[in-house]
Amino acid sequence: MTLATLPAWSLLQAHYEQIRGLHLRDCFAPAHDSSPTRAERFTFSGGGLCADFSKHRITDDTLRLFTQLAREAQVEARRDAMFAGELVNPTEGRAALHTALRADNPAAPWHAEVQAELARMARFANQVRDGRWSGYSGKRIRHVVNIGIGGSDLGPKMAVHALHHLASPDIASYFVSNVDGADLARVLEQIDAETTLVIVVSKTFTTLETMTNAHSLRSWMIQQGCPEEALKRHFVGVSAHVAEVVKFGIAEDNVFAMWDWVGGRYSLWSAVGLALMVAIGPDQFGELLAGAREMDQHFCSAPLERNLPVLMALIGIWYRDFFGAQSYLVAPYSAALQFLPAYLQQLEMESNGKSARLDGTWVDYPTAAVTWGEPGTNGQHAFFQMLHQGPTLVPIDFIAVLTPQYALAGHHPRLLANCFAQSEALMLGRTLDEARAIAGPARPELAPHLVFPGNRPSTTLLLDALNARTLGALIALYEHKVLVQATVWNINPFDQWGVELGKILSQALEADLGAANRVEGKHDSSTTALLARARAALGR
Ligand code: F6P
Repeated sequence: MTLATLPAWSLLQAHYEQIRGLHLRDCFAPAHDSSPTRAERFTFSGGGLCADFSKHRITDDTLRLFTQLAREAQVEARRDAMFAGELVNPTEGRAALHTALRADNPAAPWHAEVQAELARMARFANQVRDGRWSGYSGKRIRHVVNIGIGGSDLGPKMAVHALHHLASPDIASYFVSNVDGADLARVLEQIDAETTLVIVVSKTFTTLETMTNAHSLRSWMIQQGCPEEALKRHFVGVSAHVAEVVKFGIAEDNVFAMWDWVGGRYSLWSAVGLALMVAIGPDQFGELLAGAREMDQHFCSAPLERNLPVLMALIGIWYRDFFGAQSYLVAPYSAALQFLPAYLQQLEMESNGKSARLDGTWVDYPTAAVTWGEPGTNGQHAFFQMLHQGPTLVPIDFIAVLTPQYALAGHHPRLLANCFAQSEALMLGRTLDEARAIAGPARPELAPHLVFPGNRPSTTLLLDALNARTLGALIALYEHKVLVQATVWNINPFDQWGVELGKILSQALEADLGAANRVEGKHDSSTTALLARARAALGR
């Protein structure tokens, strides 16, 4: 399939030409035929979440064409194939069954294995939480250090931060990912070997950063007085390669399984979420799974025209492939969702940052946009200037949580007011006439600086509260959005070959950095000069 051959694609192109000049301000103007019902017509709910798409540069016709495109691109067939465990990741010869990790249907693929592993995780988490699992000196665990990177770090880190209000006050969680020793060193300053549990998470158990940190932490524990034979009380592993974990020195009983059909960036629902389960407990972890399941059910059963992941995906494609937007912003108005943008960066860009179609031909249209973000209101005082008045179009996902996690009077109404004010201001803008009136006759030259073009589109996603269930639904919403986009773009969202080349070259460069003699003629002149400077700094 090539996109250009789909009738809906050509129709969308023609439709884009028709409505590209349409201003959202006019769509919402009282004089516009459909203005009073616009918010209602473009707001949809699913999986316990609500999404207002009305501040997008879309009309009823656009939505109709989106649905037609989803049908022609066979989104429903790809979705069903994924849920059924078919080989939807052909370049790695695998299924992609993250949905099976949260399914409650005994007929779901791998159901018995998934439930057995969840039960093991729950037993272990409860023992750590209630103090039955103690360290080498008999003291209970107070610190949990998750060592992992990418999908083995970003999900649990994001979720532990988001659900801090549900976490045990007796156990602090830490996340170490970077091979930069500063990351681990900062954590070592805060923990105590006797009361520390380390969870080494790596699907492959060969990832350089994770193995370097795991070995350093193991040595530190021994230096701090942990007898080698007691390390099993302090180290557990999560991996699809049990033998590698055992080789590292973790007892087989302390290894939690994941499967090769779970992609790293889709793996929070598996034992990769163990640090989260220890923090919030098995029941709340179950709520996370239940929220994701609700979104799965919505994705599978809601008509395409009211299907949140489908609509979010097509709105993203609308700006990326028709308006030429290079990036999109995730702005959670929630400090607890601080790490959501980083999590979504991996989910979206590692999944859909591809140029080869499933059949090996090259795409001739843009795929994944740059995902970036920062919680509001912080972003407002940093980069929102550019969003309001810069010449670049950046569609935005605002995420607002209607009820607060903390009882500090006065904060939450201000937070929400800021969120809604930003989407309104970006949509409306300020005309030159309005700017002139504000600048006043004394300073007419100021007027252009006070103009806001407006027509800057955004989704507002509403969560009643930020809890394990809504977080699960929110993550699943983005997971499915990614699948829908991949299906329309005809690419494989489940592989990540693009990370390989740098890994291979870094091994060669590490050897060159440590080599006895200066390395000549092996690299380009830039890399050779950088190596020489680094070697000099390292005293080689
Ligand atoms: O290098 C990219 C990557 O493979 C990601 O896809 C993955 O989430 C991360 O590294 C960590 O991999 P692992 O869990 O095997 O250590």
